Amino acid sequence: MVNRASLEKRPDEVATMFDDVAPKYDVVNDVLSMGQTRRWRRIVVDAMDMKRGQRVLDLAAGTGTSSEPYADAGIDVIACDFSLGMLKVGKRRRPDINFIAGDATNLPFADNSFDASTISFGLRNVNEPKRALAEMLRVTKPGGKLVIAEFSAPVVPLWRTMYTEYLMRALPAIAVKVASNPDAYVYLAESIRAWPDQDHLAAWLQESGWEKVTYRNLTGGIVAVHRATKPLESKPEGAAEAIAAHKGPVAKLRRNIQR
Ligand SMILES: C[S@@+](CC[C@H](N)C(=O)[O-])C[C@H]1O[C@@H](n2cnc3c(N)ncnc32)[C@H](O)[C@@H]1O
Repeated sequence: MVNRASLEKRPDEVATMFDDVAPKYDVVNDVLSMGQTRRWRRIVVDAMDMKRGQRVLDLAAGTGTSSEPYADAGIDVIACDFSLGMLKVGKRRRPDINFIAGDATNLPFADNSFDASTISFGLRNVNEPKRALAEMLRVTKPGGKLVIAEFSAPVVPLWRTMYTEYLMRALPAIAVKVASNPDAYVYLAESIRAWPDQDHLAAWLQESGWEKVTYRNLTGGIVAVHRATKPLESKPEGAAEAIAAHKGPVAKLRRNIQR
């Protein structure tokens, strides 16, 4: 059995690790985030602002907890993930949701087939995250939205220090008590620390061809919610990189930081 994925994020190791944690995934999440995940998820759904009858891709959907609010609101949500263990737990819990096995770096969907795409706490685990951003761009309709929720970098130094302590010491200790596979939560802590900050991810989005990139910090930057839009007209290959380079440093990115 693979206990935890390495930071190289070999896809087979990541999928097996999530297969292992699947049965207790949602309970452990609630405990480790001290209930904050519910608030974060509500903010993601508000940012998506989907209407009944629209079609949304929830990528790296896991057990479908991030997909449920859309299904509940009559939105046609496709919950896609490559861990069969996570998908099975999700399907058992919510048989009405359309769960599809698929790899974020090679999505099994046609071009322009979703009104919007979203990924919650998944992009960090993908071995080639920029490829996943490009794939989500491909399958989203022109003018369609992307919303990403991901752990990020707390902005206030004291808060950052306290959070890092929690991440590296308390979280693995709590995980030993509540999780079936505590090693997976060591990976969780390490992968959060190794993940790029808010501006860096915003730059990746622009480089991948997304426009109108903004982000909002939640809980002082522990989580960031990035939003972007697919351009109405597709640009010739390589144009996205040229435009990103022309626009200059990351600091110039249009931001929308609301705490
Ligand atoms: C932390 S869970 C998030 C699940 C759900 N979105 C949520 O908010 O609870 C991360 C998920 O990413 C999935 N994942 C990681 N890499 C993937 C890839 N390359 N393709 C598809 N899913 C992937 C894992 O299988 C796992 O279910």
